[in-house]
Amino acid sequence: MIGRHRHLIGLEDLSREEILSILSLATSMKEVLRRPLKKVPTLRGKAVVNLFFEASTRTRTSFETAAKILSADAVNWTASTSSVSKGETLLDTARNIEAMRPDVLVIRHPAGGAPGFIASRVGCAVVSAGDGAHEHPSQGLLDMYTLAEHFTRLGGVKDALPDFGAIAGKTVTIVGDVTHSRVARSNLHGLTKLGARVRVCGPPTMIPPGIEALGASVHHHLRPAVEGADAVMMLRIQHERIGDPLLPGTREYSKIWGLNEKKANEWLSPSCAILHPGPINRGVELSPEVADGPRSVILEQVENGVAIRMAILYLVAGGASVEGAEGVARA
Ligand code: CP
Repeated sequence: MIGRHRHLIGLEDLSREEILSILSLATSMKEVLRRPLKKVPTLRGKAVVNLFFEASTRTRTSFETAAKILSADAVNWTASTSSVSKGETLLDTARNIEAMRPDVLVIRHPAGGAPGFIASRVGCAVVSAGDGAHEHPSQGLLDMYTLAEHFTRLGGVKDALPDFGAIAGKTVTIVGDVTHSRVARSNLHGLTKLGARVRVCGPPTMIPPGIEALGASVHHHLRPAVEGADAVMMLRIQHERIGDPLLPGTREYSKIWGLNEKKANEWLSPSCAILHPGPINRGVELSPEVADGPRSVILEQVENGVAIRMAILYLVAGGASVEGAEGVARA
């Protein structure tokens, strides 16, 4: 359980304390992940099925890796090689997989609401791995974990564990196709609950009306949006979720809303972290020099994704409590 929740569908549903409980647990999980022998028996006998109706590199691999480190059995299912191609529905697919007695279904689906729909119809725990433009809760959590590590590092104490309180009062700017971004939505819910100020920036066609109600301030020009920010999160244009073109072209987009070395050096503070959930369209939202440069924490995000997903699987697959995580770290 994550606090009161059997499933993880979105960060909108979680309280600040429930978010902090996952982040704290991830610190113990990261210690296990960094061991030479990265295996603990915590979820031995449990089964996790990754049901991915959309492509993924990071999320699917890290859920699988997380399950295996915790000694759960992990099965990867992909729509393209399944009976979905013969017309089987989402619900029939989920019910048939459920009949094989998994403990956790991790679901990615192009339709917003799909994991929640399945969660109310199956007996096992359901974790969203991203649904349409709704939410990507594990990504939001790993982003917050990475930000907390970055802000803690700036404190200068060597080997200090991440202080999640350090997110409060910081300014995080999210740039790009916010309308179609489940990552932006999960980060908005999570970061505002932890006390961060969130700015969103992009072309008017890519900023959804009413986003201010989620606690964001809206900008359409990059410079004022990123100046003074403690972190900048660049997003990919979600071509697969856009029906009609919302931009004259990617070259214009890159010129106005993309971040290159010159803009980063002139507009960002030296300590400003640059995040990206991946996959990066190099040369569009980020130049390669910035993506691989000294401010980038993009590969830290990927590593932290495994620790966060270990924490999530531990909690939804029957981990007794956050205190039990000390047992994980001792194992
Ligand atoms: N960040 C993210 O969801 O990446 P993948 O699509 O590769 O899983």
